[in-house]
Amino acid sequence: MTLSNRTIALALGLLAGVGTAYIALNLPGNSGPQATGRVAIGGPFSLLDTTGQRRTEKDYAGKPMLVFFGFTNCPDVCPSGLQTLTVALDKLGDKANGLTPLFITVDPERDTPQSMAAYIKSFHPRIQGLTGTPQDVQAAIKAYRVYAVKVPDEKDPTRYSVDHSSFFYLMNANGEYTKHFPHSTDADVLAKALAAAL
Ligand code: NI
Repeated sequence: MTLSNRTIALALGLLAGVGTAYIALNLPGNSGPQATGRVAIGGPFSLLDTTGQRRTEKDYAGKPMLVFFGFTNCPDVCPSGLQTLTVALDKLGDKANGLTPLFITVDPERDTPQSMAAYIKSFHPRIQGLTGTPQDVQAAIKAYRVYAVKVPDEKDPTRYSVDHSSFFYLMNANGEYTKHFPHSTDADVLAKALAAAL
């Protein structure tokens, strides 16, 4: 029974598209009863910035954060999301200084502080890159209810990609979840929503 249940679960997951199924489960509103009535996205993290210095959510307290998870080898979703964010932050001008945009890796094995630094240079200078030990990164992924799973390359098992959900999470100045946007959000729409939160 155990084996067949597992097989059925796997088959259902494949049919539904594993990513989609998990993203749906992880969306606010599907997160089960909340004692406080507040959506349980976000919370403490302890990661390394692009200089290798340890950073926690306390370092960013007092300003809203826009938190985006991804990885530097991502072929399309992350670059397009970060480009959209860059355009939105440019539109905000000086107001962007009131916001801390964070790009947190889901691929700590390859994304060292140095590779994060090199990667985020292509985007808005306010975007901070964070990585850390696999354990610390996993804790952040869990706190933000991000779906992230390694997918081995079919042709070359030494290579892999990472399937991941790709929302921008807007957190208020107290670090509490406010709302999220898909990575495909229009830059104008994102800029207006961020301006309203600042
Ligand atoms: Ni990505």
